[in-house]
Amino acid sequence: MIITVASFKGGVGKTTTAVHLAVYLQAKDETLLIDGDPNRSASGWAKRGDLPFKVIDERQAAKFAPKYQHIVIDTQARPQQEDLRSTSRGV
Ligand SMILES: Nc1ncnc2c1ncn2[C@@H]1O[C@H](COP(=O)(O)OP(=O)(O)OP(=O)(O)O)[C@@H](O)[C@H]1O
Ligand SMILES: [Mg+2]
Repeated sequence: MIITVASFKGGVGKTTTAVHLAVYLQAKDETLLIDGDPNRSASGWAKRGDLPFKVIDERQAAKFAPKYQHIVIDTQARPQQEDLRSTSRGV
C-alpha cells in the first residue's frame, strides 16, 4: 500500500499523521516513510527517537521503495503540480 499525506495548508498534522500511519502499517509489514518535505520534519523526528520503521528522503526513494510492502509519503504544504503527480504515481 502507498499512502501520500498531502494538504495545501501548513501545520495541519501531515507529518504527525504520516508517522502514525507508518507505525500502524509497520505492525503489519515492512514499512518505509518517505520524507518528501524539504523541511525534513519526519527525518528530524526519526533522528530524535526510535521509530520502528525506516525514514528516508525522496532522493533515495527509487533505491529503497521496491524493498517495502507499505510506503507512507509525507509532503510539504502547498505541493506543486509536479509533486502531486510524482507522489500519486508512487515514487
Ligand atoms: N491530531 C492532532 N491533535 C492535536 N495536535 C496535533 C495533531 N496532529 C498534529 N498536531 C500538532 O500540530 C502541529 C503541526 O503538526 P505537523 O508538524 O504534523 O503538521 P504538518 O502539516 O506536517 O506541518 P508542515 O506543513 O509544517 O509540514 C504539531 O505541533 C503537532 O504536534
Ligand atoms: Mg510536516
